[in-house]
Amino acid sequence: MRGMPVYRILEKRLRGETNDQEEIRALIHGFVDGKVLPEQMATWLTAVTLTGLSEEETLWLTEAMVASGKTLDLSSIPGIKVDKHSSGGVGDKVSLITVPIAAAAGVPVPKLTGRALGHTGGTADKLESIPGFRVELTEDELIDQVRKIGCAFAVASKDLAPADKLIYSLRDRTATVASLPLIVSSILSKKLAGGADAFVFDVKFGDGAFMNSLEDARRLACSLVAVSQKAGKQAVALLTSMDEPLGRAVGNALEVAEAIEVLKGEGPSDVREVSLAIAAQMIRLGLSIPNEEARRKAQELLTNGSALEKFQRLIEAQGGNARVLEEMDLLPQAPERVEVQATASGVVGSIATRRLGLLASRLGAGRGTGSDWHPGAGIRLLKKVGDPVTAGETLGILFSPRPVSPQEVNETRACFDIQQAEARKTDLIAGLVA
Ligand code: URA
Repeated sequence: MRGMPVYRILEKRLRGETNDQEEIRALIHGFVDGKVLPEQMATWLTAVTLTGLSEEETLWLTEAMVASGKTLDLSSIPGIKVDKHSSGGVGDKVSLITVPIAAAAGVPVPKLTGRALGHTGGTADKLESIPGFRVELTEDELIDQVRKIGCAFAVASKDLAPADKLIYSLRDRTATVASLPLIVSSILSKKLAGGADAFVFDVKFGDGAFMNSLEDARRLACSLVAVSQKAGKQAVALLTSMDEPLGRAVGNALEVAEAIEVLKGEGPSDVREVSLAIAAQMIRLGLSIPNEEARRKAQELLTNGSALEKFQRLIEAQGGNARVLEEMDLLPQAPERVEVQATASGVVGSIATRRLGLLASRLGAGRGTGSDWHPGAGIRLLKKVGDPVTAGETLGILFSPRPVSPQEVNETRACFDIQQAEARKTDLIAGLVA
């Protein structure tokens, strides 16, 4: 590598000094080219995990990761292009609702989506449960579709920020995944490479989120917004609760069905509330209008069926069978279905959301292609936090392609904490960072 040798770059970092833009760029590009060794990169990542990075350094790291691959050129799409990102949760089907709402308002949305990760689901997997739906779009297909119908969902191609994949894999092996600047640069490198002009981040907190505490989630939200703005983008973040699954459905096809219900004006109120709040921010940024007006538009487009119609066009454009909107039985159904009954009476005080997400994944909803995987697998919650329960009542239904074990039934039951006292609900939307 040219410039300062990697050894000196590491020495500076380990002495507690900062690295300049050129050094960070040399390190990242050298790592991608194989000239910086994994142990050298691991040393730097460890030092960053221990001492952090300034906002400026985080931006330089992000930009170096973006420059490791290509950036989508969306300039042929008129208007302010808005992308939305969730930090990940259980039952989080919000993108399926917000993208059509924002597009129905006239905001172009080239939505880059991901796959399931750990206990959290992925929008790409959810959409693929619609028969025929294709999320692997080429750059031209993505752009053409947004130009034609205003929105598209596509999995990020391997050419976008390839450094992130390499670094993430090293972080995974060196216990450096939890570092805030590394998380921010990882998320933002992919978003910036996606080429949108504005971002709305849904940063989740609580048991089912990557950031358990509201304080940590707020720190992540502030950093995502600040670094995006430094990179010349508009950005806003909402802090939303993942202290219980969002809505009642966890699992790919089950969540698509629930999203369709919300688009029809039905469905759980928590899903609707978060979706409207996010969609309003997408519309505010995309159309440069005041918050109140954006909120009214989002509400109206959901209520008058425009968002549902946009979702129909989107499904058709991406090869899916849009008849699922009317005949939800066309969505894949897992063959095994087991009800989990409460053994005590009281009130649901809390739900172990992360454990429930992992259980859904094990039942076949996680990322996978093995015999245990099924697009219809997952869990439907019949009881949520605050609901009264009588012993013998059904708490939830498990769906799986294989027989469900008694242990899995017990594990599900144990995820519901049934108390005698009144439950304390966390605020669903705890703040906005702009
Ligand atoms: N999501 C990402 O894309 N990267 C991280 O580092 C964490 C969550």
